[in-house]
Amino acid sequence: MEKAWLMALVLMSISISSLISFALAAEKFNVVGKVYCDTCRVEFETKLSEPIPGATVKLECRKVRDEAITFSRGAVTNATGGYSIPVKGDHEAEICKVSVEKSPRPYCNEKMESWEKSQVELTTQDGLAAPIRTANNLGFKKKEPLPGCPQVLKEMGFPLTPWAF
Ligand SMILES: *[C@@H]1O[C@H](CO)[C@@H](O)[C@H](O)[C@H]1NC(C)=O
Repeated sequence: MEKAWLMALVLMSISISSLISFALAAEKFNVVGKVYCDTCRVEFETKLSEPIPGATVKLECRKVRDEAITFSRGAVTNATGGYSIPVKGDHEAEICKVSVEKSPRPYCNEKMESWEKSQVELTTQDGLAAPIRTANNLGFKKKEPLPGCPQVLKEMGFPLTPWAF
């Protein structure tokens, strides 16, 4: 009788641990990042850059070989402009990128190459086991720069940037 109990217990713990590893395999990574408004139209971050809540981003993985899409998932940024995208499986030999899709701000919705996409590695084959993978900040360019921009850029050591003003 005791043996049967022991057997049942062993079987149960095996199935629980395989369930857990299945769950881990199912959602292996979380891609996190932030979306900003480039309020100075300079295509880099300044202290006047503002997080954008409610922006839409999309993570897409494609095979290196034929560019077939293997994974695609969208997200919307929260109150502090952050997003978190759970990712299923390992994406070795694939290129995964997060891109900005839509800005909720009509006065800050211009895309720019430097803040439009960020590549993320989504494999443990690279030697990293960390489940959180942080993308570079993404963003949109504001239509009109803030009045405070020249001063902030000067403080940052940049001369006046005529293309921005
Ligand atoms: C917004 O999302 C980021 C990334 O997931 C998270 O770190 C942050 O705590 C969230 N902030 C709020 C206010 O929910």
